[in-house]
Amino acid sequence: MSQIITPYPIRRSRRLRRTEWIRDMVAENKISISDLIWPVFICDGLDRKEAIKSLPGIYRYSIDKVTEIAQDAVDLGINCIALFPYTPKHLKTPDCAEAWNPDNLVNRATRAIKKITPNLGIILDVALDPYNSDGHDGLIRGLEILNDETLIALEKQALAQANSGADILGPSDMMDGRVGVIRRALEANGLKDTLIMSYSAKFSSSFYGPFRDAVGASGSLSGDKKTYQIDCANSREAIRDAALDISEGADMVMVKPGLPYLDVCKAIKLELNVPTFAYQVSGEYAMIESASLNGFINKDLIMLETLLSFKRAGCDGVLTYFAPELAKLLTRK
Ligand code: PBG
Repeated sequence: MSQIITPYPIRRSRRLRRTEWIRDMVAENKISISDLIWPVFICDGLDRKEAIKSLPGIYRYSIDKVTEIAQDAVDLGINCIALFPYTPKHLKTPDCAEAWNPDNLVNRATRAIKKITPNLGIILDVALDPYNSDGHDGLIRGLEILNDETLIALEKQALAQANSGADILGPSDMMDGRVGVIRRALEANGLKDTLIMSYSAKFSSSFYGPFRDAVGASGSLSGDKKTYQIDCANSREAIRDAALDISEGADMVMVKPGLPYLDVCKAIKLELNVPTFAYQVSGEYAMIESASLNGFINKDLIMLETLLSFKRAGCDGVLTYFAPELAKLLTRK
């Protein structure tokens, strides 16, 4: 790239920063409500709104309430929500059968939401951890997370979710071959239009702590997820995994966590040229939220700045618990 560099005083960089309108005119990236995907937690029961200790301001909603949340999303101009279940303990088993129950929490919620707000996009996570008494994303024997046996379970789970009306499946389990298995199963079952947003670059991160609390998986998790999630030291491996997922039939890829992995977002976008998303995960939310509750930072400005940094790194959109607050902020602006 040729850069014309003229020295001071011919060039004064501050000329382009002097007023709000000129800054706006030359801004390289813009944020909009359509960049936002809102992750929402669901619980069993009726008329319930349960606080989550490690995620101040975030709640689990029963299905009757989550349809109201879906309506809020539509009213705010948010295109898509991602649903995560807090599965009752007695339904968590070593074979994870609740994952492909057509009447499990996420499948029932999806049908209920689609009845009322059919044009709101719904993403469902394909992974066994909310249904596994061991808390892992895959089936487990002894100390081993079983890859190929898990694929059979994920296929059943994905089909149940797509049949409930999920628009996008988000395989987040990190088993090898899952995207191909899911794509072939969808094609074979007349579900050719179901999208796959693969959690391709999902790192073995400590930023997921509050989420595991939110879905009730933290207590049951034995060990860590290092044998299937990506080592935090690696970015080239993440790009290879994303390329593999696209070749197996993913339409879009995701990087997770978000802010600490902007280099990975940028590399994937530049190398693969596919729709790329980041997940600003629970730990990132919790850090910003608790600093702002202490009055240490200006939350509104920090939310906007982090969203812009995702755009700068080339992301097409961001999954963020701040989605409704950001949508309100962006509407007011
Ligand atoms: C589970 C899953 C996780 C998240 C999304 N899907 C947690 C994990 O892998 O342990 C984390 C999201 C967040 O922290 O906000 N497959």
